[in-house]
Amino acid sequence: MDQLEKKIKELKLDLHLIPNVDSLKQPLKIANLSISNRLCIHPMEGCDATADGSPTRLTKRRYHRFGSSGVGIIWYESTAINPQGRSNPFQLMLNEENKNAFQDIIKEAEKAEEQLNKINGIFKKSIKILQLKHSGRYSRPGKKFPQRMYSYEPLDKAYHQSISDGKIFSDNDLEELETDFRESTRLAKEIGFDGVDIKICHRYLLNESLSAFSRENSKYGGDLYEERTRLLKNIIEKMVSQFSSNKFLICSRMNIYDGISYPYGWGVEKKITEKYPPIPDLSEPIQLIKDLHEIGVDLFNLTLGNPYFDSSISRPFDQPVQGENLPDEHPLQGIFRFINLTRKIKSAIPSDVNIIGTGYSWLREYSPFVAAYEVSKGNVDIVGFGRMAFANPEFGKQILLNNELNASKCCISCSKCTELMRKGAVTGCVIRDSEIYLPYYKGKQRENM
Ligand SMILES: Cc1cc2nc3c(=O)[nH]c(=O)nc-3n(C[C@H](O)[C@H](O)[C@H](O)COP(=O)(O)O)c2cc1C
Repeated sequence: MDQLEKKIKELKLDLHLIPNVDSLKQPLKIANLSISNRLCIHPMEGCDATADGSPTRLTKRRYHRFGSSGVGIIWYESTAINPQGRSNPFQLMLNEENKNAFQDIIKEAEKAEEQLNKINGIFKKSIKILQLKHSGRYSRPGKKFPQRMYSYEPLDKAYHQSISDGKIFSDNDLEELETDFRESTRLAKEIGFDGVDIKICHRYLLNESLSAFSRENSKYGGDLYEERTRLLKNIIEKMVSQFSSNKFLICSRMNIYDGISYPYGWGVEKKITEKYPPIPDLSEPIQLIKDLHEIGVDLFNLTLGNPYFDSSISRPFDQPVQGENLPDEHPLQGIFRFINLTRKIKSAIPSDVNIIGTGYSWLREYSPFVAAYEVSKGNVDIVGFGRMAFANPEFGKQILLNNELNASKCCISCSKCTELMRKGAVTGCVIRDSEIYLPYYKGKQRENM
């Protein structure tokens, strides 16, 4: 703790730790849904679905573990809205044929939550949100098949694909996606999710649309904010009018800063610059949150960056993915970027918009103390954990019952979960869940799961 506080001081970061974590134990109402605490599990893709997108033994195991956490919100991992938009051939996908099998991942979490509730009544059923996505430039339904909003070679290069691969989506192609979002949302509601996330982050398709300055002859691109947000707003407006209710939320995981320079980045200063990472400009993300709130979106999960281009912005780490370099900045500077940009958004939007923050896992056993400060000051409403949930799914229970995390179970930000993903293997924690995932890290092939 002393070393951490010393480093924060040395780096002159406005970050604070408080020992009292009571702010994380406060209930919250979102529309007509209640959560019993301010903790969330972020979406974490396990890359372990069957060819038709159904959950397998490992997927069910993951959601059972997440249910045993006791958090207020489980934000289910990215689920493809159609086969062409899958990020990998093992990504979840929900359709009429597999909806009953898909429902198992809700039931698994609920089973664990019921067990937890029997032990201690403070644990209630979580809100369960399903993340819906088209992978756009990062689609890999079998082989890589990029479907872009516009052409920008550095992004393709970073993902080891050629600028001539795949295609640029026409306006018509984009409009057809609305049907797939509708069908996935309808099914998610039918099988018992409490809401869906129309995903606009990490530079997948709808996030890329927000920076489509260079897209020509299109309703969905250009200099104007209205042009670049039209596609997304049309989709969200339709989902809200058709499916939203006090008990079913349309929400969004949103990038507020891409970390890619203008004119190819969103949430950055509109100035051509060599400076990297570019200076944030939150005016458009703030406007977008206000506009979507007017349409009926009450819950946003905020995040940053493009993990394929610079993963240090999306998830500060100690050890990079094998073959990649450490960034110039200290991980605490990355965490401060998350926290500071989230504070700025929260202070600029209506108070009834609920905000989930990201970027806490690197802080390990000290994360609840930083998170508790942010929630107690009203800088964020809920705090989410990604890699921590892979490593230590009971983190919620530990914070809520013991006021601290078990240090020997925390994520060590070693990037091995990402390495598994990049290798095309199933994804989980190689260190803390080694019985299952170390063999895959060492090369075990995925069997019939
Ligand atoms: C292996 C892996 C899978 C992920 N899957 C998703 C996903 O499905 N959807 C998403 O929005 N973010 C995904 N993320 C990002 C996390 O949700 C989270 O934003 C990121 O890890 C930073 O939070 P943390 O510091 O708590 O880990 C993933 C990250 C990793 C490492």
